[in-house]
Order: sequence, then structure tokens, then C-alpha cells
Amino acid sequence: MREFTYKSRDGEVRVLINVDYARSLGELIREYTGCAALVSRGLPDAVKVDCPTMIINDGESGKDINTVIGIIKWVHGLGLDRDGVLIGVGGGSVLDTVGFSASIYLRGVDYINVPTTMLSMVDASLGGKTGVNAMGIKNVIGVIRQPRAIIVDLSFLNTLPVHNYVDGFAEVIKYGVTMDGELLNYVINNKDALLSKDRGALEFVVYKSLINKASIVERDELDKGGERVVLNYGHTVGHAVESATEFSVSHGRAVALGMICEARVGVKLGLTNPDLPKTLLSALDSYGLVTKIDISNIIDSVTKAISRDKKKSGNFLKLPVVIDVGKWELVRISVDEFVRMVTSECRSIP
Ligand SMILES: NC(=O)c1ccc[n+]([C@@H]2O[C@H](COP(=O)([O-])OP(=O)(O)OC[C@H]3O[C@@H](n4cnc5c(N)ncnc54)[C@H](O)[C@@H]3O)[C@@H](O)[C@H]2O)c1
Repeated sequence: MREFTYKSRDGEVRVLINVDYARSLGELIREYTGCAALVSRGLPDAVKVDCPTMIINDGESGKDINTVIGIIKWVHGLGLDRDGVLIGVGGGSVLDTVGFSASIYLRGVDYINVPTTMLSMVDASLGGKTGVNAMGIKNVIGVIRQPRAIIVDLSFLNTLPVHNYVDGFAEVIKYGVTMDGELLNYVINNKDALLSKDRGALEFVVYKSLINKASIVERDELDKGGERVVLNYGHTVGHAVESATEFSVSHGRAVALGMICEARVGVKLGLTNPDLPKTLLSALDSYGLVTKIDISNIIDSVTKAISRDKKKSGNFLKLPVVIDVGKWELVRISVDEFVRMVTSECRSIP
């Protein structure tokens, strides 16, 4: 078991890793006047929480403003007051929806995240970016507001399909390559233990991922200071690949291609160690994360999607460029130049 806290505008956030969620929740909810749990519809096993429980739709279609209205109607009907707490149990789609609902119900009540996918354990559960899709636009409504606690029970991973499980490792490798060489080496050297869901190995990897993310969130909670952008490594190209392939390439695999491509762009800019793209390719490939798609077929759609990237400011992108493992810097680059480089450097991956 591991535990740490990080600071936020709304106070300290407790992070518990490799614990029994039911027991930890039982202790945490005692300090509230009431609780309500929102549980992912796709969870194969019954969730044991000592609170009124509502099953909600998950995935991108469930992560919707209408689900939020349904949650608010339900908790209001329960009489949950401002000293109550909402609990989200599920993957990133459910945690984003529940976090956002908690942030607007009665102008904000506490919420606790219980992530059940690898991606949500290492990424979506921490950081307070909550939001939902509306009008067909992803994450178009949202706020930044931290949970009170994050409870990671690794036993949820037992039922997670392998494709989905492995996807989370793209984000782990992202933390490793950008901020934490020890984590990157661990993931490379302990592949067999991690792929067989060894508890000790997983506890280490989830802990290191979350503590790296928390250190950035503490310094730039509102994503205004230029630090939080590092969490976006590989995501500018990754999001473009997702949208150009109409989401047939999963998030983790798209981010994997994005990181290799952005590393190559870094080399072209003369900033990145020329060995880095190879190191990344080999680490990601060993987890089966390098999809053999012919990027040259979709390069036009990818470059169009980059031009529409929601993180651009005017005609410029703020790009985190990894100099070498564990060291990065923020580069301001024009959209046109970035698109030119992606077109020349990333036509074929691997
Ligand atoms: N807020 C953030 O910082 C942040 C960061 C990264 C991603 N996200 C968001 O997270 C979402 C993706 O999250 P996700 O990949 O966790 O997927 P998800 O929530 O869509 O869940 C994926 C699937 O796994 C199923 N599932 C969940 N837990 C399971 C378990 N233990 N066993 C078996 N099946 C299980 C679900 O029913 C669903 O069908 C996206 O909407 C993305 O925008 C948010």
C-alpha cells in the first residue's frame, strides 16, 4: 500500500494506492453528512459501497451533459446537502462526469474518485480536469476542480480486457520519458511482471505515475503557468490521429504514435537527443502500443486536425519537447511549421 497527498486550491487531496476500495471508502465517508455513488454500467462485478448507488452509462456516449442532469436530479432527490460527497467508480469517462456533476451541484460538493481502468488509475483520476461532451464536441463543457481523495484498488484490473489495460501504459511511458527516467527503466525492465498484472510492480508504476502528475498539478493546477503542458506530450499528434481515424485507433495507441512523432520533430528542431525516438519506439512496441497504420494515408486529416487543436493559441502551439529522458522544455512553434515537420518526419511510423 502507498499513500501521498498533494496540494490544491481547495485543500489537500489524499491518494491511496493498492488498497481495498470498500474499506477505504467506509472510513472516508464517515466525515460527510451523506454520500451517493455513481458506478460505471460496464463494470462486470457488483460494487460494494455503503451509499445509495446509481449505475450510469460510460464511454463517450455516457460522458454527456444529459447524464450530468440525471445525476443531479437523483442526488437532489436523495436530499444530499452541501456537506455530502459524490463517489465515482469507473474509468475516465465516469470520473470526468461525476467530478463535473459534483463541481456544479449546489455550487460544488466534494467528490472521491475510484478508478477502475489502467488509464484512469494512472491519469484521469488525478488533476481535477472534469468535463463532459455536448453538441457532439468532446470535453466542451468542464471545470478544473480536484477530488478530495483518489482510491486505487488494483483488483479492478482483473476484469479489464487486455487491449484496454495495455492502453494505459502509453501514459505511464509518457511520465517516464518526460519526467522520470527511473519509471521509464522500470517499465522497460519489468514488462513481463506488468503484463501479467503483478501487484507489486503495478503498485510502483501507479504510484510513480500519480506522484509525477501530482507534482505538475501542484505547480500549475489551472494549466496557465506552462508546466501542465508537459502532460500533453504526444497528445497534439495523438488527438489528431484519433480524430483522423474516427477513433478506430485507441487513445493510448494514438498517444504512442504521437510521442514517437513529436520526438522526431524534436530531433528535427535540433533539441532532442537523436536516440530518443528509437528508445520510445522500442518501449512502446514492447507493450504492443505501436499500431501499424500507414500515416501517409491520413496525413492530410492529421495535419487538418492539428490546425484545429484546442490547445493552440492564435497561430501558435505550445509544445512540450523532450530534450532527453526526464528533461523537457516548452517550445512555442507556429502551427504551419509544426504541420510541415509532422508531414516530413512522421509519414511512416515505425
Ligand atoms: N480528466 C482527465 O484528466 C482525463 C485524462 C485522460 C483521459 N480522460 C478521459 O477518460 C476517458 C477514457 O477513460 P477510460 O479509458 O478509463 O475509459 P472508459 O471510462 O470509457 O471505460 C472503457 C470501458 O471499460 C469498461 N470498464 C471500466 N472498468 C472496467 C473494469 N475494471 N473491468 C472491465 N471493464 C471495465 C467500461 O465499462 C468501458 O466500456 C475519456 O473520456 C478521456 O477524455 C480524462
